[in-house]
Amino acid sequence: MPTVPDVRAMAGSEPITMLTAYDAPTASLVEAAGVDVILVGDSVGNVSLGYDSTVPVTMDEMASRTGAVVRGTDEALVVADMPFLSVGASREKSVENAGRLIKEEGADAVKLECGPHTVELTEHLVNLGIPVQAHLGLTPQRVNQLGGHTRQGTDDEAAAEILELAERHEAAGAFSLVLEHVPSNLAAAVTEALDVPTIGIGAGPDTDGQVLVFNDVVGLSDWSPPFAERFGDVRGEMEGALDDYVDAVESGDYPGDDGGHEAEYDEFY
Ligand code: KIV
Repeated sequence: MPTVPDVRAMAGSEPITMLTAYDAPTASLVEAAGVDVILVGDSVGNVSLGYDSTVPVTMDEMASRTGAVVRGTDEALVVADMPFLSVGASREKSVENAGRLIKEEGADAVKLECGPHTVELTEHLVNLGIPVQAHLGLTPQRVNQLGGHTRQGTDDEAAAEILELAERHEAAGAFSLVLEHVPSNLAAAVTEALDVPTIGIGAGPDTDGQVLVFNDVVGLSDWSPPFAERFGDVRGEMEGALDDYVDAVESGDYPGDDGGHEAEYDEFY
């Protein structure tokens, strides 16, 4: 698995794969598949905590999920998302929160949803030894301000602002940049302008890598955004297994005759 400097050096070379994980067994599967970067995304809020957005996700929730992902992997590069308002409001609190995910939970880097307010913070965290992945374009923690999960950088002014912020975060020391839900020509222009790699989600084919949400990729989500291709039907598999379980118990087929294995159960528990 690559390190932070390895990922930084992957710009313009082989495509970078990044995928979310939120628990130990999933992280172990993602690592075994050879994914370059595992993101403990605050998308855990929508995907597994039952929230409507990432806004309510807390530091305790991110810390718990980050620790689980780290424990589920051997040497994966684990990036932990900083949840809404955990960074940016005060410098001391930002360092404390980012430091917690690195120092106590074992993440290798943090990801910040960025704006003008995170340039100086990125430099400060990097100077302290906390690798930062920047995130621009659609930043879902701003959903209330944006009025929805809408595509960003769609006019010249907004596109220029994203490009400028990308360059400023690179100069501040960010080792890579996630670009979410922006036009592909803007993603291509940002990728061309930066030395650090760009990792796109809904940003077209011209970034240095791609990131998606685990549940979308394996087909577990009940809804996924149009740009998130499903590579499996885990939801269908789960529904089938659950139907079979209910049928088996209701019909008496399970557990059936234990075949004299009770003693083995005793030993197991
Ligand atoms: O939280 C998340 O999963 C993310 C990715 C979609 C980039 O930020």
